[in-house]
Amino acid sequence: METKVLVLEDYKRTGILSRADMDKLDEAAAVIRRGGLAAFPTETVYGLGGDALMKEASRKIYAAKGRPSDNPLIVHICDIDQLSELTVRVSEEAGKMAEKYWPGPLTMVFKKSPAVPDETTGGLDTVAVRFPVHPAALALIKKAGTVIAAPSANLSGRPSTTSAAHCVEDLNGRVDVIVDGGDCEIGLESTILDVSGDVPQLLRPGAVTLEMITETLGMDIGEDAAIKGPLKEGVKPKAPGMKYRHYAPKAPMILFTEKNGGSIAEAMAAGLRENAGKEEKMAVLCSEECISELNKLIPEIMKDVDVKSTGSREDKAGMAHVLFERLREMDADGVSFIAAEGSSEENIGKALMNRMKKAAAWQIVTV
Ligand code: TXA
Ligand code: MG
Repeated sequence: METKVLVLEDYKRTGILSRADMDKLDEAAAVIRRGGLAAFPTETVYGLGGDALMKEASRKIYAAKGRPSDNPLIVHICDIDQLSELTVRVSEEAGKMAEKYWPGPLTMVFKKSPAVPDETTGGLDTVAVRFPVHPAALALIKKAGTVIAAPSANLSGRPSTTSAAHCVEDLNGRVDVIVDGGDCEIGLESTILDVSGDVPQLLRPGAVTLEMITETLGMDIGEDAAIKGPLKEGVKPKAPGMKYRHYAPKAPMILFTEKNGGSIAEAMAAGLRENAGKEEKMAVLCSEECISELNKLIPEIMKDVDVKSTGSREDKAGMAHVLFERLREMDADGVSFIAAEGSSEENIGKALMNRMKKAAAWQIVTV
């Protein structure tokens, strides 16, 4: 299959969809309508979209991603009225969250209506629904005249894609079109909140933070086991996708975090010293502040280290924005060992740390 890249030139320059951009979205929408696949930008990460109500399109999505078909897809809507076609019950809590955070980086899991094919939900009796805020995503869904099933537009097991270039890397020849709308603003996947039961449960942390949810609902919510630590044998996460070793760089990664007032840079320096000579190509993934400390602590070792900056330590949203891109860069550089600096778990830090812990396969050093 030949993949066509449709660049939203004016949107990328001005942030506004022009007539010419809209024509390109028409072309992508036509692909979806006839059962094809289109990768498209959202405010979180790129999605690999197909018609959510067409079994065959869902099957194609799994095949293109190389994803196990027991891992359900998120259904994207562009109008709150579409929710009633997909679900049988919307709880009071779900209503409050939708009012406050839709459109936006929030996915909610509902009991599904028979209109949603089992192929889309991986055989579950629930459906995950997301109402994105990205104008190109909204225009595409509207023009397609349906709801769009879209997992993150990466090959299974690779970091999610946050630019069209990443989509080309993973999906060239596997999808009909890739819509290039530039870099994704947030850079981490949406928050997933299960509102199908009595008490809402956080299944995946994201930019709609735990703090925002508890404040909006005025109650404590549950948290799935997959967020808290590595899953024990036989324990199933509520979001089937959380069981896979996602976001994994090719090289082993150790995550350094601070809890007891220790120095992350000193601990990282010790780790790098220990591995120097043993590892072919070491990399550090850390803040500018940490890089300058490391340069002082181990200048001779840092000369040969692949240095990936996540920006200032103070700017957690900035770290989130570049995380997946840096992970991809380190894969491309062929590094064999990664020492990474974590952040606190407040606000967006919880989502950031969730992805980093998984990338590190829960190898964490706390100082
Ligand atoms: O930001 C996002 O959510 C992006 C963009 C494209 O919208 N999409 C995304 O999709 O991250 P994906 O497929 O990579 O991750 C969806 C997660 C998986 O872990 C899946 O198991 C879970 O959502 N999920 C989907 N439907 C579910 C359901 N009915 N119940 C529980 N978990 C569900
Ligand atoms: Mg994904």
